[in-house]
Amino acid sequence: MNQDDLIEARRDYTADTLRRVDLASNPTKQFTNWLQDARNAKLIDATAMVVATADNSGQPHSRVVLLKHFDDAGFIWYTYQESDKGQQLAENPQAAILFYWRELERQVRIEGAVTKLDPALADEYFYSRPEGSRFSAAASVQSQPVSDRSVLEQRVAKLHEEHPDGNVPRPDVWGGYLLQPVRLEFWQGRADRLHDRFIYTRPNVETEQWDITRLQP
Ligand SMILES: Cc1cc2nc3c(=O)[nH]c(=O)nc-3n(C[C@H](O)[C@H](O)[C@H](O)COP(=O)(O)O)c2cc1C
Repeated sequence: MNQDDLIEARRDYTADTLRRVDLASNPTKQFTNWLQDARNAKLIDATAMVVATADNSGQPHSRVVLLKHFDDAGFIWYTYQESDKGQQLAENPQAAILFYWRELERQVRIEGAVTKLDPALADEYFYSRPEGSRFSAAASVQSQPVSDRSVLEQRVAKLHEEHPDGNVPRPDVWGGYLLQPVRLEFWQGRADRLHDRFIYTRPNVETEQWDITRLQP
């Protein structure tokens, strides 16, 4: 690849504006509005979010997961709790979530403490998933090395033999996480890089009242 044009790779952001008067007083409502806009615009993977964790040495790690639920209590995703991210969260239960909806020229950043969800909720979501996803989830030990793809395919085939009715059980280590936000930022790209940014902050998760502050771009 020729990288000569990387420094020229940019575009101007002119799709929309974000004013203080446009913001909902509650960030969950504001997020609802923006996610709805992303879904109305039929964006691919509108619910995909980068989750950043840090291990106890301070090394950050990030990866994409899918948002599965949110409300005033926080933001939920499902994964393996003994995966790399699960181990990092066990060491340091703080995380950051990032959504980038490029067609809308919008970014949302969310930060807070993370807790494991009740296994009953994991059951509810796990058993609602398509059969293929459930078998793959049961066959994988996420983040561990595997010598070859065929090893995974053989495990899936064996699980199908053991559970011909399709009812493969949820692995104990497969479950949800809840991030309870204390800081959320809504970023709207603007012309000439003079972007609009607002943060919602609260001192702790018990506080229902949010402060809203405009940040310089
Ligand atoms: C669009 C997209 C959606 C994903 N959704 C999930 C998800 O919901 N849960 C999950 O565990 N991994 C999901 N992944 C895979 C993760 O990015 C990652 O590879 C995996 O969770 C292992 O991460 P870890 O080794 O840091 O724990 C998704 C990846 C992409 C690109």
